Amino acid sequence: MVVLVNQLVTGIWTMMYNPSAEGAFASVEYIMRDVKGGWLIRYMHSTGASAFFVVVYLHMFRALLYGSYQKPRELIWLIGMGIYLALMAEGFFGYLLPWGNMSFWGAQVILNLPAALPVIGDGLAEWVRGDYIISGITLNRFFALHVCYPACTCGLSIHAYCSATPCGFEQP
Ligand code: HEM
Repeated sequence: MVVLVNQLVTGIWTMMYNPSAEGAFASVEYIMRDVKGGWLIRYMHSTGASAFFVVVYLHMFRALLYGSYQKPRELIWLIGMGIYLALMAEGFFGYLLPWGNMSFWGAQVILNLPAALPVIGDGLAEWVRGDYIISGITLNRFFALHVCYPACTCGLSIHAYCSATPCGFEQP
């Protein structure tokens, strides 16, 4: 809850960011140098993303240790896997936004994974990019996805929480 709220608050706070190919990199420089406390908000968001994964891994290892993935809780484990994939996608979308060299090459590597699929691969990668190369179009859609995705992740988390409450299944 703490890491999620941190991401939401610092994410909304960095919305002076400009999601265009021409302005993205300069707007992150602006946040870092000219916005008062902007560097702190940005670092809370980028380091907070790593902290998010740390607590998620602790949470998963706890489930493995206690065998909480077993009957009658299989569905909770599967929903958790769904949330985990959604979180990785969310981090991936966010990582493109500063529009730096690492963002570009990171996206290039990850987007080449679906491209390795036979027959549909190249078309699929092109569909995700929205272009033949990673361009401003890709940046725009990743920004839109990055901002609206947490709503889905919150929905999944609430769903998992509700199905984990004692009334959801028979107690032994
Ligand atoms: C689960 C929640 C979230 C995760 C894991 C996440 C992760 C990330 C990551 C890894 C970056 C790149 C940071 C960097 O290298 O500078 C980023 C950037 C960004 N995120 Fe998020 N984010 C989340 C939620 C949000 C929300 C809710 C918003 C806004 C409503 C938001 C807005 C932004 C913006 C504007 C940037 C670009 C500015 C920057 O690079 O610092 N994020 N996010």
